[in-house]
Amino acid sequence: MTFDQQTESGFEEAVIKPGKKKSILDFMEMTEKGEKITYLTAYDYPMAVFCEKAGIDMLLVGDSAAMIVHGLPGTVPMTMDQMIQHCQSVRRGAPNTFVIGDMPFLSYQISVESAIENAGRFFKEANVDAIKLEGGRRISKQIEGIVNSGMTVMGHIGMTPQSSVQYGGFKAQARTAEDAVEVIKDAIAVERAGAFATVLEAVPPEVGKVVAEMLKIPVLGIGAGMYTDGQQLIIGDVLGYFEAFTPRFAKKYANIAEIAVKAIREFINDVRTDKFPERKHCYRMVKGESDKLEGMLKNMPPQ
Ligand code: KIV
Repeated sequence: MTFDQQTESGFEEAVIKPGKKKSILDFMEMTEKGEKITYLTAYDYPMAVFCEKAGIDMLLVGDSAAMIVHGLPGTVPMTMDQMIQHCQSVRRGAPNTFVIGDMPFLSYQISVESAIENAGRFFKEANVDAIKLEGGRRISKQIEGIVNSGMTVMGHIGMTPQSSVQYGGFKAQARTAEDAVEVIKDAIAVERAGAFATVLEAVPPEVGKVVAEMLKIPVLGIGAGMYTDGQQLIIGDVLGYFEAFTPRFAKKYANIAEIAVKAIREFINDVRTDKFPERKHCYRMVKGESDKLEGMLKNMPPQ
């Protein structure tokens, strides 16, 4: 993003220039220079197209698809096959964006071997640029194993939705000094295990600041305050099409739900009042064939 264009009104405006696909080296450089990384979720082809057009730095094909796309109450039910399919659609829509596949619940916790195998599926079948898994110290062996197999890993610490039942739901973490230290230990473990970046979810800004300052790798905050190296949000919250609930940290930039309902109501009304379809929405018969058909029907014996 640059601030180099004067608008007609004379105000400077951020001009977003979609560019070539960024790599982990670009993200490291951005972090060293203090340039913020932009990060959204996407689950399907059209949203991926929009995000790439807009110039987003990275896209997560999150297992939050369970809630945003499939209407489930949490992320646990997502399967490997579902995640791979979502990743394939996003990859097709955003061929020049760094895409991260989210490893679903129990696809990496059981053993390092199964974690490597499942991570490999994301790269081989969906051509992702990295995978993400939740947890700090308790999955550092898996991160190490996947990285040592030649794959790129993003960590996810703080509030980790797949294990949210263990802390009573989607609740902010690290609100006491003791809990903050636990999150900081997780952050260090994830970096030491070889992750190229980590998500830090739902912690106070003070904790976001400490973690971002302590780690060399980019720390991507989602509900982690303003001091992290990048900001992530869920596309359904940003565009206003996920209405089940809105987390405190989300900012709504559009109200797609309102636009969609209005358009669907107009369609219903048009059909009911014969305003749709109009002549321009219809196919034309080959010249002369309409009269010919009429004649044929006249001479047609009763059926
Ligand atoms: O699945 C997801 O969307 C995520 C984000 C909340 C980081 O993991």
